[in-house]
Amino acid sequence: MSQLTGIRACVFDAYGTIFDFASAAARCADIPDDKRAALTSLWRDKQLQYTWLRSLQGRYADFRQVTGDALDFTLDSLGIATPALRERLMDLYLTLSLFPEVPDTLRRLKEAGFVTAILSNGTPAMLDAAVRSAGLHDLLDAVLSADAVKIFKTHPRVYEYCLQQLGVQATEVSFQSSNAWDAYAASAFGMRVVWCNRYGQRRERLPGAPDHEVRSLAELPALLAPPG
Ligand code: 2OP
Repeated sequence: MSQLTGIRACVFDAYGTIFDFASAAARCADIPDDKRAALTSLWRDKQLQYTWLRSLQGRYADFRQVTGDALDFTLDSLGIATPALRERLMDLYLTLSLFPEVPDTLRRLKEAGFVTAILSNGTPAMLDAAVRSAGLHDLLDAVLSADAVKIFKTHPRVYEYCLQQLGVQATEVSFQSSNAWDAYAASAFGMRVVWCNRYGQRRERLPGAPDHEVRSLAELPALLAPPG
């Protein structure tokens, strides 16, 4: 497998890539067992749809609100809406579990001399809480939020913001996302992309073509030539 060369910064999507969004429902004892999987899936789908729909409409609301609105829709759809359950799940979203290989991967990348960063739709407060609760703050050089540009991925302005903040060119970034839509958009934007296809998704029929596809971030360091 050919290594990506000329990479200076490794940038990661947050939810589904670093943090396991399924861990919120998994750790919430108040959800009936037969509704847990449906809750996770519908909540995520609605959350993403709302980011794209709001971006199309030019009606930005931050990711905390979008996540809460999506949760309201989901709890209502499943017939389990209560204020206490909503609050509990929104709180759990601030302390999501990490995918197990993440700390060691970040450590190896930093030791190799790469800049490490998150680029996420999450608000700065949501990301800060999740990063701190997972103990990742020393392993990340930057935590970048789409909230700074008031539109969500896949708008190119979000990926552009990342370049400005890190002071790098698009081709000097290796962007990692488990979300196919995000991986393809970053590739179409001009970044090098390693699609961490944790969920076994089919390839998208959208602009862009990830440079590599892996199942776990543990495979990433071997794919990147260390910065010169
Ligand atoms: C992100 O972290 C929503 O997974 C997406 O930006």
